[in-house]
Amino acid sequence: MKHFLRVVTQFFVFLYCKCLWRGLKFVTRKLTGRCELQRICYNNKHGARRTLKIESSLRFSKNALLQSALSVHPDKVEKTIEDIIALKKINPDTNPQLGISLQASLLQIVGYRTLVAEVEKLRREPYDCENPEHEDMLMKLWKELRPDTPLTGRISKQWCEIGFQGSDPKTDFRGMGLLGLHNLLYFAEHDKATALQMLHDSLQPKHNETNKPEWEQKNIDKAIGYSFAIVGINITDLAFSLLVSGALKTHLYNVAPETPSLMHLQQTFCYLMQEFQRFWVEEDPCDIMEFNRVRSKFHRRILRQLKNPDMALCPHFAASDLHLVNL
Ligand SMILES: *[C@@H]1O[C@H](CO)[C@@H](O)[C@H](O)[C@H]1NC(C)=O
Repeated sequence: MKHFLRVVTQFFVFLYCKCLWRGLKFVTRKLTGRCELQRICYNNKHGARRTLKIESSLRFSKNALLQSALSVHPDKVEKTIEDIIALKKINPDTNPQLGISLQASLLQIVGYRTLVAEVEKLRREPYDCENPEHEDMLMKLWKELRPDTPLTGRISKQWCEIGFQGSDPKTDFRGMGLLGLHNLLYFAEHDKATALQMLHDSLQPKHNETNKPEWEQKNIDKAIGYSFAIVGINITDLAFSLLVSGALKTHLYNVAPETPSLMHLQQTFCYLMQEFQRFWVEEDPCDIMEFNRVRSKFHRRILRQLKNPDMALCPHFAASDLHLVNL
């Protein structure tokens, strides 16, 4: 009986809060003459702050049109915004900025979903030696990372020089499929200096610190003691899980003015590689056996950073730079 009463009380309290919330929304709308979406757009600058709020406002909306806006096809975004503005009885002539703002945010929201699907497809595509495109990419990767050393054959121990495990890299891509190769190649092509430096440092032997004279200690700092390509494939896994879990929304909504693309994710990968190396050196692990520990600590740190709605992971392409005009 007591239990029953408690449940009933809880139910009424819940109902009461819900009515109160709706009433509050209604009164605010009457007072300001603006609906929730308008208030979000006026009170938050373009980027994750605004888009995350719009996303949750649409998700929890009672209205079918507003709810379905989240999964609309990217080509239908413009029409959807017109419908929303009509539904909310907002005059587009006196609120010209609203449509533009809403559209940019909705393009980010539906673009993120599309990107997850695109990336998942790449990840599922296995590396195929019979496919000339795949083989070309692999050869390009070699040329970018080892410009002065020709490869003696497709199957060669030389692959270990760029951090693969054996004489045929195809087996190393297993977990991440073509996505790993795409990322490594993007890094080598677009952030070449950093990639070459990382590769160089990874090839330094990790010295035994105690019996080295001080002037040689410099080299110790640079020795990483892990395999470049293998770590690249593993950091691809990290970037992929950040994307799929939705944690990367903050970052992508801040760096992509509209639809986030594969290129944005690849830039994120470059940033993660660089940061992971810095983190690894700071953590100063004895050997590769500590990879698990360092990686999960790094993962937690990135997740924590992404909780801040102003966070952008790549400083070169941050929201405050050229990309985001104040929409
Ligand atoms: C990356 O490393 C973590 C931790 O060692 C492991 O659980 C994960 O399976 C690895 N991912 C790939 C694609 O190798």
